[in-house]
Amino acid sequence: MAHRPNSPVTIRSMTEGDADAVRQVERAAFAARWKPEQSAHAERPPRTRANVLIRLRKDPDGCFVAQVGSEMVGIVFSRTWGSVGWCGSLAVHPDWQGQGSGWQLLHASLAYLRADPRRVVGLETGAGEARNVGLYLRAGLVPCPITLHLARELGGDAEPATLPLWSAARAEVRSQWLEGLREASGTVIPGLDYGKEIESARREALGDTCVALEGGRAVGFGVATVVSPFEGWGAEAAIVQALLLDQRYVSEARLSGLLAGVEAIARRAGCRRLQLVVSAGRRWTVDRLLRRGYRLERVGLQMIHGDGPALTFDPDGVDCSRWAG
Ligand SMILES: CC(C)(COP(=O)(O)OP(=O)(O)OC[C@H]1O[C@@H](n2cnc3c(N)ncnc32)[C@H](O)[C@@H]1OP(=O)(O)O)[C@@H](O)C(=O)NCCC(=O)NCCS
Repeated sequence: MAHRPNSPVTIRSMTEGDADAVRQVERAAFAARWKPEQSAHAERPPRTRANVLIRLRKDPDGCFVAQVGSEMVGIVFSRTWGSVGWCGSLAVHPDWQGQGSGWQLLHASLAYLRADPRRVVGLETGAGEARNVGLYLRAGLVPCPITLHLARELGGDAEPATLPLWSAARAEVRSQWLEGLREASGTVIPGLDYGKEIESARREALGDTCVALEGGRAVGFGVATVVSPFEGWGAEAAIVQALLLDQRYVSEARLSGLLAGVEAIARRAGCRRLQLVVSAGRRWTVDRLLRRGYRLERVGLQMIHGDGPALTFDPDGVDCSRWAG
């Protein structure tokens, strides 16, 4: 494709009709960064069409595309979890990188996320990606502790999972649980709300959620998805989208119960591995995960917008969640 460096880039909202072009632009952008030695796959396949549509449904006003003439050259998704919002995936087709599209897409996403001034706004990038970290620093984002991408092989004897599952609960019980979990999440970050992930896993049949109860009230949960976001990858690895315990109820036994719960969701779906992400600053959780047999696969870097609320947390708190798209 010929370069048209003087062509004006326009940013517009993403629509469902963009799904296939979005998949192709994103795949092309990330192809050069793919490290086959860190994966069982030689190439990065495109995101599934269903995954693009699910992301779009979660935050339809926070997803944008960059266009030059009729050609899509870049994409960005945003995600809000109550008082926490993050930007990503952000991608510009290699033929159009270095010409300002990434900057404009990033700012469209940040403007959407920062419309609520109480929101902690950030993103996750590769800790070693100087070009990306440089771009984000210039946009006002400040590095946080690194994030640890851990995984556990699920072979061998399984610890019995005893926690109730979202999928088996009646609608009125689920809404009581949601209320309890909003309060529980608020003890970790005021206003944090993972309800969208829990509901999406159920509605889109992506996986399930186990719930820790205390006197009938939901005080913790783990939501695991068992459907790969990538085309043709099937259900080889399950992903913990979020796992959290009310700060007032943190205990070794409750964390073990939640981990046994998400591991059981993965096993039941035939997944051989379970992946999860936690900030290196959550020392208590990291220590328990390593002792349970989780191994470090990759390191990421979360960056938070410096003009909004800071991300402060207790090193003994339990909050594992993916901020990367
Ligand atoms: C990251 C990406 C989206 C950026 O898009 P882009 O269109 O190439 O970026 P832009 O041209 O808008 O802007 C890049 C800016 O970063 C700045 N930048 C680049 N490297 C930098 C560095 N090392 N230090 C400081 N700033 C740097 C540039 O100065 C540039 O701004 P300027 O042109 O005004 O000087 C794009 O390169 C891409 O798709 N990469 C592959 C996928 C990817 O890594 N996505 C992000 C995952 S977190």
